[in-house]
Amino acid sequence: MSTGKPISLNDVRDMDYHDALAHKRAEFDLPADIIYLDGNSLGCLPHAARQRAQEVVAIQWGRDLIKSWNSHGWIDLPVTVGEKIARLIGAAPGQTICCDSISVNLFKVLSAALMMQPDRSVVLSQRDNFPTDLYIAQGLEQLLGAKRCQLLMVDPEDIAANLNESVAVLMLTHVNFRSGRIHDMQTLTELAHAKGILVIWDLAHSAGVLPLELDRCDADFAVGCTYKYLNGGPGAPAFIYAAKRHLEKINQPLSGWMGHKAPFEFSPDYTGADGIEKFLCGTPPVISMSVLDAALDVFNGVSMQQLREKSQALSELFIRLLTQQPCLSVLKSGFPADRSERGAQLAYHHPHAFEICQALIAQGVIADFRAPDILRIGFSPLYLRFEDIWHSVEALAAIMTSEAWRKPEFSRVGSAGKVT
Ligand SMILES: Cc1ncc(COP(=O)(O)O)c(C=O)c1O
Repeated sequence: MSTGKPISLNDVRDMDYHDALAHKRAEFDLPADIIYLDGNSLGCLPHAARQRAQEVVAIQWGRDLIKSWNSHGWIDLPVTVGEKIARLIGAAPGQTICCDSISVNLFKVLSAALMMQPDRSVVLSQRDNFPTDLYIAQGLEQLLGAKRCQLLMVDPEDIAANLNESVAVLMLTHVNFRSGRIHDMQTLTELAHAKGILVIWDLAHSAGVLPLELDRCDADFAVGCTYKYLNGGPGAPAFIYAAKRHLEKINQPLSGWMGHKAPFEFSPDYTGADGIEKFLCGTPPVISMSVLDAALDVFNGVSMQQLREKSQALSELFIRLLTQQPCLSVLKSGFPADRSERGAQLAYHHPHAFEICQALIAQGVIADFRAPDILRIGFSPLYLRFEDIWHSVEALAAIMTSEAWRKPEFSRVGSAGKVT
């Protein structure tokens, strides 16, 4: 594709023809006539996940009942699924476990990290971090008191300057949920460690779409969800990473029986497991964890680098096609210009982003809206074609020129709020 002359539909079809990941699309159940630019919110359904859902309900639960804890490996799911995720996030075995939600897991790792830092209290984070991360720190602040936990929120450019000896934990989301801006994990972790600070990374917008190297970056803890780029389904269980060097010494306060060293001895006294299993709490959600287990097999045979390159190529194409449409200059970029500094999404500001997003959805192009004024576009590389990007930009241009977004039905807010 030349950089000078306008891109044509033929150029775009040529990109699909040469796409080394094109065959992966066939592994998904994709609704006809929909272009899905929201895999950064909820990933699409892999065929294997649908099949597993049917099998786990009809055979494992329906027929084999309680025997399935052993015969179908239900009891091992948090570990086996955790290890599948570990391979995607640069974690050696024994450090990743699948359980609960990001919010609950953050409570566990943030508490554990604070217990490791008895002489410090500050939890440093970014003001525009995803709210649940900040809310969990605020909840701990209430529970423990400001002498043990004190959330300090700063702007992203002030993070490095605030790393000092009062900070116990640096808690950041690797890819910002609005702007898509990536933090430099390696540099920030090194800077924090130099001041004795532990680091927790939220990988919600990174896992399954960016090459991650938690071990190599010497990360302390990480959490992430599996319903976005990992395609585990709505409400799919999340994961925790804790570096091996910490595992022996740490404790976490949600000391449920599944995290016990010997849960089936039913002892009245809690002794946490030695390894990463100590981060478990209660019974695993077997149906959704089984579905996730199958969904993760879509990643077999592809490298994270390939996925990164394709998501970058898709988003660069979107940006270039947008500039070919003068009517779209009203959409203002809300993301880093340098592709290496952003994840697999783009954010555009417009005072009527909500209505524009609804009008796009009515045209079969699903994007999402983030308050107050962001149209967010996600580029999930496993199932999107370059031609999809062409048609999305065409649809967006048609909506803006016709002003179709002004129709009253596009300003109606659903019962889940302004969620698409
Ligand atoms: C960065 C980030 N953290 C956390 C969450 C949500 O966490 P939970 O799994 O607890 O709902 C999201 C949801 O989109 C997110 O974007």
